[in-house]
Amino acid sequence: MVQKNFVCKGDICYSKDMKTLETCKDGYLVCENGVSAGVFAELPEKYQDFPLLDYTGKLILPGFTDLHVHAPQYRFRALGMDLELLEWLDTHTFPQEAKYVDTDFARKNYARFVEEMRKGPNTRGCIFGTIHRQSTEVLMELLEEAGLCAMVGKVNMDRHSPDFLRETTEESAEETIQWLADVADKFPHVKPILTPRFLPSCTDELLEKLGDIQKQHHLPVQSHLSENRGEVAWELFPKSKHYGDAYDSFGLFGGENCPTIMAHCVLSSDDEIRLMKERGVFIAHCPESNTNLASGIAPARRYLTEGIPMGLGSDIAGGTRCSIFFAMAEAIRVSKLRWRLVDESLAPLTIPEVFYLATVGGGAFFGKVGSFAEGYEFDAFVLDDSRYDNPGEYDIAQRLERVIYLTEDSEVLHKFVAGRQLF
Ligand code: GUN
Ligand code: FE
Repeated sequence: MVQKNFVCKGDICYSKDMKTLETCKDGYLVCENGVSAGVFAELPEKYQDFPLLDYTGKLILPGFTDLHVHAPQYRFRALGMDLELLEWLDTHTFPQEAKYVDTDFARKNYARFVEEMRKGPNTRGCIFGTIHRQSTEVLMELLEEAGLCAMVGKVNMDRHSPDFLRETTEESAEETIQWLADVADKFPHVKPILTPRFLPSCTDELLEKLGDIQKQHHLPVQSHLSENRGEVAWELFPKSKHYGDAYDSFGLFGGENCPTIMAHCVLSSDDEIRLMKERGVFIAHCPESNTNLASGIAPARRYLTEGIPMGLGSDIAGGTRCSIFFAMAEAIRVSKLRWRLVDESLAPLTIPEVFYLATVGGGAFFGKVGSFAEGYEFDAFVLDDSRYDNPGEYDIAQRLERVIYLTEDSEVLHKFVAGRQLF
């Protein structure tokens, strides 16, 4: 359905702010020209002629953003989960990613990832491809065909990886420039994002070239930051004050005209956190991955309190679950462990806070996305929570809470992205 004026009726929930859920039972959510016109207890006169999609008894929620996910890692997820980051990269990730040199292989395997994303609650994603330019374009094409909104990166790597997954510095920059030329304006809803893998994978020379490309095209940037002890102990930034400063010295760390996402930030120093805040760098908090790869527990409460922009990431295949519902539950679980075992001054995250991160928090990287407040792009999904055996007395907030902990994502009945109904 391409029609962009309609009304959804059902049990509506969205974040009013970080601390508050706004709910409306048997409410009306109005989409006008692909944008939310707001939520109403009674349908205003001027919308009476819009087609009514009746989802009475079902939950209607804003679409989620997966702020950090590796598409080529989807097919081997859940392997090597007894390893740490660097060992896991060498044993599983690099050999698997190397296969994406073959665009036929890429098409077949990326299709599976895209189908999982299409049918679940995510409407947006910031996605890593591999170093391979043409396969990355295939991924973008499949996402566009599926109706999703995404930013996708051709990964850059010119050191510390096996020969079969390493570019020369020149090659990495040139392939990136060619890829940007190939995909420029090709996909209305899927856009390129510069993707230096992490510092261990990128020489200063490469980062300098990527900094020049960024300035020329005003591209957004995504990477990994201060994730795991093994990686940070490598000390690959001798000229910089900290890991973030190394990206910053090449103009790849937020600020005006350089929207940036850094995944993890488990081990960030006070100085690094100060710089992220100053530059408006988005943090992709990936709690399941941080546990699986023994990276630790990011101080998410501190980031929220300091007002650093943040969303949630599945980090497939550091994480095993694509579900951002699952990431929300994990964010609460690990924040409780951190509070209990590491630092009692940082209180655990709450349900309204993790719901905010999954919707408005990550959505903000795409603009006005993740809310049903007037003026937000109409990203929504309809969920049937009837199989959770609600005895009838739970309110919408409690039903949401149960879904966060219980869902397998399979109950998504309908989904809308920027006002277009996918199913
Ligand atoms: N750091 C560099 N590459 C990766 C990756 O693929 N996954 C995770 N979790 N961390 C990384
Ligand atoms: Fe990652």
